[in-house]
Amino acid sequence: MVKAATGALLSTLEIDRRSRVPIYRQIEDFLRQMILNGSLLPSQKLPSTRELALELGVSRITIKSVYEQLISEGYVQGKTGAGTFVSEGLDGETPVVPSIDLTEKEYLFGNFSKTAEHISFSQAIARYGSILPFRPGVPALDKFPIKRWNKYVSRATKSDITNFSYGDLLGSKKLRASIAHHLADSRGMQVDPEQILITSGAQQAFVLISYVLMNKNDTVWYENPGHIAGRDVMRIVGGDVSPVPIDGEGLDLPYAIQNFSIPKLIFTTPSHQQPLGITMSLQRRLALLKYAHEKASWIIEDDYDSEFRYRGRPLPALSALDKVGRVLYVGTFSKSLFPSVRIGYVVVPEILMDAFAKMRNIFGQTSSAITEEALSNFMDDGAFAEHIRKMRRLYRDRRDILLNALQENCSNILIPQQTDAGMHILADIKNGISDRLAHLELLKSGIDSLPLSIYYEGPAERQALVLGFSGVQKKVIPELVSKMGSVLNCLKTVN
Ligand SMILES: Cc1ncc(COP(=O)(O)O)c(C=O)c1O
Repeated sequence: MVKAATGALLSTLEIDRRSRVPIYRQIEDFLRQMILNGSLLPSQKLPSTRELALELGVSRITIKSVYEQLISEGYVQGKTGAGTFVSEGLDGETPVVPSIDLTEKEYLFGNFSKTAEHISFSQAIARYGSILPFRPGVPALDKFPIKRWNKYVSRATKSDITNFSYGDLLGSKKLRASIAHHLADSRGMQVDPEQILITSGAQQAFVLISYVLMNKNDTVWYENPGHIAGRDVMRIVGGDVSPVPIDGEGLDLPYAIQNFSIPKLIFTTPSHQQPLGITMSLQRRLALLKYAHEKASWIIEDDYDSEFRYRGRPLPALSALDKVGRVLYVGTFSKSLFPSVRIGYVVVPEILMDAFAKMRNIFGQTSSAITEEALSNFMDDGAFAEHIRKMRRLYRDRRDILLNALQENCSNILIPQQTDAGMHILADIKNGISDRLAHLELLKSGIDSLPLSIYYEGPAERQALVLGFSGVQKKVIPELVSKMGSVLNCLKTVN
């Protein structure tokens, strides 16, 4: 015979009267938990509604509605004239939720898949919400022509009711055509719009490429240091990721050939190596294409920020030299517009298109048809090109101000690297201070540079800060850099 639940048993229930969770919900949750973790046993009698109401200082109606809810969910049963009892049917089936607190490690390794275990160690950091100054890769959101953009979005909501439905799996035809024009004008690429698949940012393109083209244990050559989130994808999908060093010409092809097996995929950022900023030489580009052709490897060209080159014209993409179709060109609007637009694309040989579309159907289906139409019109009207031109000038100025300020305030502690492209500079740290320590200390002062070492697989060759300049207003740069100098100089004396 199971004993009736006494007041003592329920005395651990503390009602939080200031909580936004209604009182009846707090009581319901508590009773459910007691039943699931075995504190209340099958057939055990619950206190009468009157008793419990008195004990908890709530109305009887509240307790009645709690019991009715639990009866309807099957946790308890009401027996006319006898009271309310924990359901018998739960006997033996109740998953016993351990009440002891698991350590984080036990929790991770006890419950998660191998994939999730792996990803828990990822160094990739999402940049959501407000962003502290100098965080790399952040565009000048303060200068985005929001009103103008909103007109395009508003028009897209009125032009066609089907924009409110699921979009085309490949992305809207119109946007794909706008992107093909853009690639011809600015990247020297002759691409049929049929080869363009719209994705939710470059990151989704990496996921799709990996799932469509890679098998478990396939070799992937990946730039080292390199883009962290892309590397995580290749590894999660089962790739044997081989870290290829960067030399003065870009991805060190001779090193990779000598040290690693023939790759299925080669991940590279030839226009502006992420994070070192090197542009791949023409010789290296040709050699890489030749190698990929001979070995039937696929090259992923991540062209994430090539719009921003401050001297001369942007170099044509690696893909523009590819005559045999071994390059999968990935572009994104996260840098050229704003990250939350969540639109990127991948240019794939037509023969693979169907497989990519089917894979995309599984991974998030389509982007917003409204955003696709707005973006397409924004591009076709020249607003996109105009915005890029403005940002190029702005970013160049922001870069110059940052370099001057570093020279004035930090020359004893940082050696900034000159750069003619992109949205960040590297600044090597003198005197052996670790970049991770510098990053953490600067973060306390509201400065969010990233340590170069997190981009490395294995030990870092350099200790440097990656300083994004594109998202920091000119007027605040000198003051921030002066603060940076004080923080870093204190570290110097501590070491
Ligand atoms: C090297 C590189 N590639 C691509 C991306 C863009 O990713 P997404 O388009 O998914 O925002 C980033 C963003 O930080 C990046 O640093």
